[in-house]
Amino acid sequence: MSVATSVCAPLPVLGGDVIVPLADGREVPYAALDYAASAPALQRVWDDVAAYAPYYGSVHRGAGYLSQLSTELFEKARRTVAGFLGCREDDQVVFTRSTTDSLNLLAAALPEGCQVFVFETEHHAALLPWRHARVSCLPAPRGPREAVALLERALADRDPHGPALVCVTGASNVTGELWPVAELAAAAHAHGARIVLDAAQLAPHHPVSVRDLDVDWVAFSGHKLYAPFGSGVLAGRADWLRDAEPYLAGGGASRSVVRRPDGGVEVAWHEGAARHEAGSPNVIGAHAIASACQALTEAGFENLVARERHLIDRVRAGLADVPGVRFLSLFGADAPRVGVLSFVVDGWDSADFATALSTGYGIGVRAGLFCAHPLVRTLLGGDPAAEGDCETPGDLNAVRVSFGAGTPDEHVDRFVRAVRELVATPCGQRTADGRRVPATAG
Ligand code: ALA
Repeated sequence: MSVATSVCAPLPVLGGDVIVPLADGREVPYAALDYAASAPALQRVWDDVAAYAPYYGSVHRGAGYLSQLSTELFEKARRTVAGFLGCREDDQVVFTRSTTDSLNLLAAALPEGCQVFVFETEHHAALLPWRHARVSCLPAPRGPREAVALLERALADRDPHGPALVCVTGASNVTGELWPVAELAAAAHAHGARIVLDAAQLAPHHPVSVRDLDVDWVAFSGHKLYAPFGSGVLAGRADWLRDAEPYLAGGGASRSVVRRPDGGVEVAWHEGAARHEAGSPNVIGAHAIASACQALTEAGFENLVARERHLIDRVRAGLADVPGVRFLSLFGADAPRVGVLSFVVDGWDSADFATALSTGYGIGVRAGLFCAHPLVRTLLGGDPAAEGDCETPGDLNAVRVSFGAGTPDEHVDRFVRAVRELVATPCGQRTADGRRVPATAG
């Protein structure tokens, strides 16, 4: 195996010493290789949250010292996130619950008559929120250049006077492949459209600059960015958000509420980020995200990217000569990617394979269609228009292994060894409840 050796150490994360049981009665340290779903918390994030917890207080509501301190911490988190994302001076950072929440918020703020352009390859969080707009769904491109060409063609046909939005992922949650965001943004703007970047899988692995990419908005989740405390972010242009009805109606979003003589109420809403942050803000979630942003910045993305490249190479090199293991790719095996790899194994149902990795080796991965049904069906040679259930075992499912800043070499090495052993014992054995486990887990 030829892999680089001079890479930085993994960042300390929680859970590294958790012991899990195997089907044969042994116990091993858990290998978390499902970062694309939810990454473990950085130790630094946990420490920062713990240090703040005794000082927790209501945000934007109380006169007390801890309320004031918590409000300052919440607003400081906003500034930290803006810096992490390379936001423009007049961009706005709104704290949400997740990427899904962020994109639904933007969908609720679309101007009248807005046309939305989205590739069918998107995660459902980016594919589905636009159902109340006019949506043009673009087919799966087979390379970055084709993606730009498809978008150019679709935008050229649109009504040039109406508002339009392009929604695109930065890195696929299925293949890990990087999308040509700057080129897509240039195409969008050349046709008078705006663009939102789904950075759920990009931001934890790769630097993101709103300014350099020239995207109008970016969305990401804390739980994939090593900060699993229930917060997400929508950052970018303020105007559409300011002109829209509040996403949630309630306290915090309203500046003044008066009873009208006819018994109704008259509301003046805030115009800034608070307009879409009704209810008590999740200050711990925002603080955790800001802490993760600082930790990743201090670690240096050039180091994190190099380390992840080293892990990807280890997996690819370790499985290159294994017959029957096929990695899924839209843009080709050598396309730049983050540490997210999906694959199928001849003779194995993917759900059974994922279970065997867990019960035989203590490895946590995900099997299914990864909330990107049309993309996975296309990659597996199926019909992207076919119906089917997300988590139902069947031929059109894949296994996904994903890792990041906290992953030690041992986890991917154990994964490689496990796949090699399972492929060599394709029949495995069935447990009493019908699950398939490796015949000889070593
Ligand atoms: N979006 C997460 C995934 O791809 C849940 O697994």
